[in-house]
Formats: sequence, C-alpha cells, structure tokens
Amino acid sequence: MKIVLVAGARPNFMKIAPIIHAILKAKESGKDISYRLVHTGQHYDEKLSKQFFDQLNIPKPHVNLEVGSGSHATQTAAIMVAFEQYLVAHPADLVLVVGDVNSTMAAAIVAKKLMIKVAHVEAGIRSFDRKMPEEINRLATDAICDLFYTTSTWAGENLIKEGISPNQIEFVGNTMIDTLRANEGRFIEPECFYKEGLVSGQYIASTLHRPSNVDDPQNLKVLLDTICKMAGAKKVVFPCHPRTKAKVDALGALPSNLVILEPMGYLQFMYLIKHAYAVVTDSGGIQEETTVLGIPCMTLRDSTERPETVSEGSNVLVGTNPLDLEPYFQTLDGGGWKQGQIPAKWDGKTSDRIIEHILSL
Ligand code: UD1
Repeated sequence: MKIVLVAGARPNFMKIAPIIHAILKAKESGKDISYRLVHTGQHYDEKLSKQFFDQLNIPKPHVNLEVGSGSHATQTAAIMVAFEQYLVAHPADLVLVVGDVNSTMAAAIVAKKLMIKVAHVEAGIRSFDRKMPEEINRLATDAICDLFYTTSTWAGENLIKEGISPNQIEFVGNTMIDTLRANEGRFIEPECFYKEGLVSGQYIASTLHRPSNVDDPQNLKVLLDTICKMAGAKKVVFPCHPRTKAKVDALGALPSNLVILEPMGYLQFMYLIKHAYAVVTDSGGIQEETTVLGIPCMTLRDSTERPETVSEGSNVLVGTNPLDLEPYFQTLDGGGWKQGQIPAKWDGKTSDRIIEHILSL
C-alpha cells in the first residue's frame, strides 16, 4: 500500500503528524505500507510551517511544491499543476488529504482525475455557509473522494444526505486530538508568560484570522476593543496569523491590555490555551482543542462545522457582532460556564484506526 499524504497549511500539520507516526508503526510491525509526504507550500513562513514539523517530529516532506500565496484560484491552480506532475512521476495506491484548506481540495481533484483513490480525513463536517472558502473546499473534496474518515456521526449523516454510501464512511475520531494527547506532557510555557507576567487562569487567549472578522479595519478595531473591554483587568494574549498582523499594524492605537504576538509553535500555543481563563477565536481547530481541554471558548462566527463542540463541549457560538460577547462574559465571570464532555472517539487513537482500516481494504 503506497500512500501519498498531502499537507499544505498550518492546521494540516497537526492532523498529518499522527497519521505518519501510525504508518511508521505499522511498517515496523511488518505491514506492507509506505508513504510519501507532499508539502504544497501553501504556508511557507517558518512560524506557520517548519516549527510544526520540528515540534511534532514530522519527517521532512519528500517534496515541497512551493506554491506560496495568491488568490484562491491562483493558489489552487498552482497546487494542481505541481501536484499532477509529482503524482504522475510517483504513482500511489491512495492519496490521503486532511482538513479543508485549498491544498486539500486541489490535491483531491488531481488524484481523482489520475484515477487514484482518495481518502479524506475530517470528511463530512459542514458549516452550511458557502461564503466560507473552507466550506467550498469541503463540499468539492467530499463530492469526489472514495473513503471518508469522520470526526462525528453527524459528519457521516451529512455525507449520506449528499449521496455517499455508508460503506465508504468510517467514524474514526479526530486526528488533531491524537496530536494533543501525544504532546500534552511536552507543552512549553511561552516566553510571553515571563515577559508579560501572565498568570495561569488569569488571561484571555485570542486568535482571529477569518477575512469576515479581520479584513475590515473598523470591524477589527471594534472586535479587539470589545474583547479587551470584556477582559477587564485581564490581559488578552493574541498570537497573530500574518494576514491578521498586517491588518492590526494598520490600526494605530490599541487597548493597553492587548498583547500582540507572533504566531506560536504548537507546544507553546497549546500551553497558552490550556492555562487560559477563556479563549475567544474564529478558528475551527481551537474549538475542538478547548473542548478536549475543558477551557471556555467563545467562537466569533455565525456558524460552526464542529457543532459537537457546542452541544457537548465547552464552546459557544457568539456570532460576529462583538457586543454579543457581553452575556457570555457575564456567565463566565459569574462561574456559570457549562461543564463540557469529550466527544466520542476523540481519544488519541484515531490515526491507528485509520491505518488499520486502510490496511484492511
Ligand atoms: C488557511 C486556510 C484556513 C486556515 C488557515 C490557518 C484556506 C482556504 N484557508 O488560511 O482554513 O484556518 O490557513 O492558518 O486554505 N501568509 C503568510 N505566510 C504564510 C502563508 C500565508 O504571510 O506562510 C499570508 C499571505 O499574505 C497570504 C495570506 O496569509 O496571502 C493568506 O494565506 P492563505 O494560505 O491563502 O490562507 P490563510 O488565511 O492562511
């Protein structure tokens, strides 16, 4: 079984790491399985890419397609052209894609047109908001894949409604949580604890990078001002995605309790989340991580493709009007935040299940 794994952007790396480790384990125990890792180069900054490979012990990719940034069409097309050439030169039995970034969709289309089977890890989740590029990537990828590895039974139901046969769907759990569980004992206190005098449980961690939240300067300013006001005497620690950083830099004066930082490594960022009083974010993956760690999470979006983090976990969907944060902060400060639970099969063993299933085919 020759597998080509594709990863391109930061949230892919946490999902691909435990799958590679599971493949290597299976190979060591004598199974006929091998892989090649293709990095598309969608994310190329050291802080968004290389440090994740180093920290998560991901072996060096066999190739980096170095596509870089561009409009969605430019980036997707560049990945398709380069990945097609690679796949023709290095045929595989299966191409495995993860998540919902442009690299995911581009690689799936290329592989299918070369008649290679495609497996999608994190298939079937839906925000039902087609204004999100990730939703388009999810829909297009799942429309053509052969194997669907899901994080919830709900994701499987979505796929069945879209005409996928139940035989193609495997509810395996969440590979991102494999990475969290495998590295929990290795989280590193980030430098900002010392530099900013942070105290565990007494700061808000925040990340924002969705165009709908950060692209309009006025909107971004109101968002940051409101989060910082709600935080009161607590600091708001904000590791910035490069696209957000450029927007924040252009804003001028910022609230005095706002701490703007560079993107962090995985081990530092998870330490920051694990020790936060609460998290305010528009990320997808952080909703899952806070649910597993039991940290109150307020998601500044109108929809979530991860509804189990709200129905079972510690996450709430606030919407995109920052003023709607107020009642949630009141509940939190009053000690009334809900007690969440960890969704089924988010147990750190998902990648083993995926590889076992692939080997059984
Ligand atoms: C991508 C994913 C998003 C994910 C996010 C996490 C898509 C459609 N979106 O968004 O789902 O939540 O990654 O990080 O795939 N840039 C850099 N350095 C880099 C990469 C990007 O500075 O290494 C800047 C460039 O100005 C670029 C912009 O960020 O134009 C956007 O990058 P892009 O890869 O297009 O999407 P993200 O916003 O990172």
